[in-house]
Amino acid sequence: MDFLALIQSQVSASGTIPGWPSRFRIALSGGATPKLFYQRLTQSPYREQIPWDKLWFFWGDERTVPKEHPDSNFGMADSALLSKVPVRSGQVFRIRGEEAPPQSAREYEAILRNHFGSRDEWPAFDLILLGLGADGHTASLFTGSPALQEYGISSLGRRKEDRMAEAYPAPRWVVHNVVRALQTVRITMTMPVINQSKNVWFMVTGLKKAAVFARAQEKAGYDCPASLVRPLQGDLRWYVDKAVLGNSAG
Ligand code: 6PG
Repeated sequence: MDFLALIQSQVSASGTIPGWPSRFRIALSGGATPKLFYQRLTQSPYREQIPWDKLWFFWGDERTVPKEHPDSNFGMADSALLSKVPVRSGQVFRIRGEEAPPQSAREYEAILRNHFGSRDEWPAFDLILLGLGADGHTASLFTGSPALQEYGISSLGRRKEDRMAEAYPAPRWVVHNVVRALQTVRITMTMPVINQSKNVWFMVTGLKKAAVFARAQEKAGYDCPASLVRPLQGDLRWYVDKAVLGNSAG
C-alpha cells in the first residue's frame, strides 16, 4: 500500500535531519469515506508494519461538537483507528470542537505554529487526507464560505485588496467557518495550508460523487473548492472507486 511506503520514505528522510525526531505528520479527514481506510490500518500487515510511534495525528477540520458527539471527526478516527493502535495521547492533536469556534480555531492554529515551529513559513504536513462533498467542498471549505478568502489572500502570492484582507495581519492557517448551507460553523484548515502539504490524498467513493469528481479535475474555481487543491510542491493523489469514475471506468 502507498501509505506504508510513504510513511517509510518520509520518516527515513526526516530521520536524516540532525536533531530532528523522525516523524510523520498526517492530517486526518472526517466524513464516512476514510473510516474504512482507518479501520484497515488496524489490521495486518499495517498494524505491525506502520511505525506508530513516528506518526503525529492532526485533523483538517472538525465539527463544532464535543469529541463524544457522533458527528465528531476526532471521535470517528479515535474509535476506528487511534484507540486500536499503539499511539500515545501526546501524538494526537485534536481540534477542540467544544470550544467557542473563534477560540477553537485560534487555539488550533497556535498548536500548529508551535508544532511546526515557525511564525512565518507555512506548515508542511507529510500527508493531508481529504474527502469530497457532493457540492465540491473539501475539509470544511465550502463554496461561498468566508474561509475561502484565505485562498484568495495568500495563494496568489499577494494580498488581495478585499474587505477581508485588512481584517487580520496575515493569512490564517485555521479558521472557524460559517457554513450557511448546513446552518453550522466548522473549524477548518485553510486552503494555503492544504496546498503546502508534501502529499494530499483524496478518498472518494460512490456514484453520487462522479459528477463532482469530474468537476474537481477541471479548472480551479471557487464554485468547487476541491478544485483549488493544487499542492505547490507536493504530490496530489485521488483514490476513487469505479463508481466515481463513471463511464470512463470502462
Ligand atoms: C467532514 C469532512 C468533509 C468530508 C466530505 C465527504 O468533516 O465531513 O471534512 O470534507 O470529507 O463531506 O464526506 P463523505 O466521505 O462522508 O462523503
